[in-house]
Amino acid sequence: MELIHEIDPCRLAITNLRRKGKRVGLVPTMGALHTGHLSLVRTARDMCDAVAVSIFVNPTQFSPGEDYDAYPKTMESDLEACRLEGVDFVFSPSVIAMYPGDADQTSVHVAGITEGLCGASRPGHFDGVTTVVNKLFNIIPADVAYFGEKDYQQLMVIKRMVDDLNLPIEIVGCPIVREQDGLAMSSRNAYLSGQQREQALCLSRSLMAATEEIASGVVDIDGLCDGIREAILGAGPVEIDYVEIVDAFTLTPLREFDRPARICLAVRIGRCRLIDNVGVDVPL
Ligand code: PAF
Repeated sequence: MELIHEIDPCRLAITNLRRKGKRVGLVPTMGALHTGHLSLVRTARDMCDAVAVSIFVNPTQFSPGEDYDAYPKTMESDLEACRLEGVDFVFSPSVIAMYPGDADQTSVHVAGITEGLCGASRPGHFDGVTTVVNKLFNIIPADVAYFGEKDYQQLMVIKRMVDDLNLPIEIVGCPIVREQDGLAMSSRNAYLSGQQREQALCLSRSLMAATEEIASGVVDIDGLCDGIREAILGAGPVEIDYVEIVDAFTLTPLREFDRPARICLAVRIGRCRLIDNVGVDVPL
């Protein structure tokens, strides 16, 4: 496995592979790799001839006061995990390599779909994500890129960016990977104390309960969201950012179950901001 820190050798390595007719898959990450990331790598391995993983904690997607400095860094074990998964390239640039200029750099803004959900409470976050992902797509001109559905809004924003800007890359969303007890895997779970981790199970449990209610015929969207909020508040000290049932593609709030839907939520437990979501099969 090759470890590349600079932009030009990385672009050259991928371009050479593609010239040889190899299909290249890219898994963009911020490191602190867990089984969720590795499931993306395995999907890429299954679908492509070569797999590149980027590891870059992107400063522009963190607002002041967020956890940029504290973000877990586990480079040695990340590299070992990539090696074991048969990754061909890891691209791990420095901040200065990715952002060599002053603060007024070009950025990519996806309108509309970035405004609600996490976009409402994390201003500028998605501009940071779309800017760095666009840069990564230019540095690593892969055929396909893989993103997890845990960051469902991020996945839809990136798909929208790729459509709107006619970027020559396919975006594949992969299912959320959960711990055995249901907690969605996240690098940020490392911030949770034992007690907070137990409390955090209310996220997946309340989402599953809501999908069961919907399957049994409940269609009251406000009532379902209130039920999820109550279950989360009942589990311990928590700050709810949002609980919403949205159109699965546009992410606008739904008034009735007349199209594919997604239940999305974000909460703060201690210093840890957790997100989770689930798709709703709506009889059309
Ligand atoms: O999901 C992440 O880890 C990041 O937001 C991404 C897509 C790698 C961009 O920095």
